[in-house]
Amino acid sequence: MSLVTTKEMFKKSMEEKFAIGAFNINNMEFVQAIMDAASEENSPVILQTSSSAIKYARIPYLKNMILAGLEEHDIPVALHLDHGPDFETCKLCIDNGYTSVMIDGSKYDFEKNVELTKQVVDYAHERGVVVEAEIGKLAGIEDEVNVEANDAIYTDPMQSMEFVKRTNCDSLAIAIGTSHGAYKFKGEAKLRFDILEKVKELIPDTPIVLHGASTVIPEYVEICNKYGAELGEAKGVPDEMLHEASQRGVSKINVDTDLRLAMTAGIRKTFAESPEVFDPRKYLGLGRDYIKETVKHKIRDVFGSNGKA
Ligand code: G3H
Ligand code: 13P
Ligand code: ZN
Repeated sequence: MSLVTTKEMFKKSMEEKFAIGAFNINNMEFVQAIMDAASEENSPVILQTSSSAIKYARIPYLKNMILAGLEEHDIPVALHLDHGPDFETCKLCIDNGYTSVMIDGSKYDFEKNVELTKQVVDYAHERGVVVEAEIGKLAGIEDEVNVEANDAIYTDPMQSMEFVKRTNCDSLAIAIGTSHGAYKFKGEAKLRFDILEKVKELIPDTPIVLHGASTVIPEYVEICNKYGAELGEAKGVPDEMLHEASQRGVSKINVDTDLRLAMTAGIRKTFAESPEVFDPRKYLGLGRDYIKETVKHKIRDVFGSNGKA
């Protein structure tokens, strides 16, 4: 099978109420772990590269490792640019075989975001590529001090409707309380499902994307800390909330931090327990196993995309 866009998988996710995992990749071990896991679960999957992943690993390596995976596995796989910072990066990925790109104009004001997103959509659609856009800012919203300030950070549902109408983007990332990285909440985890509900009422046919959705899996944080890491009060979005999001109309759930933690746990554990090891296949191998377990768990127990390939 060749790479696909997210069109069909999102359609199915909205009809059957499940979410598709979008996992960030940086090297071969990540690609293999994610594709092996998705294939064993018979699940569609999105592999995504940030622009810094592209700088690190380079497009031909990233793309062709996934194409190699498709020689082994018969599941729908989309290759997606995560947080495209500008038109040029989106164009580069579209011209090089990506089937989906995100243009992240959330740092701009509404009008500039619309204009930039529209420019990418026009270029992408002419070439059969789909576009994810974002409105609302993903920030740590754990400090519930100022309601007005918080409302300014969360996505405004009315704006989301106008945005989709004017840009014709294919999917939309919204801010409902998640943030990137390993430190998402100071107190209790809290997501604004009321905003998600309003957005779904206003734009029911637009697939919704949740960024910053790692659980920050306590078991891997513990292994990392046990073997020398200093991860402090790391905290993410609990599985139950992600499951609820998948039931309430979120079609794509982005995960990077959890895979980084899994890989780091495997490497640290191997180094600490087997100081004689200097074969990268040993420590990267355990990291790869941990990533695979993580992805399988998310697909099967949280997102519900197992069996939906
Ligand atoms: O949302 C951002 C992703 O976690 C990618 O991070 O730019 O360090 O690759 P990165
Ligand atoms: P996490 O940092 O929670 O894994 O979020 C990843 C993400 O949103 C990638 O775009
Ligand atoms: Zn993100």
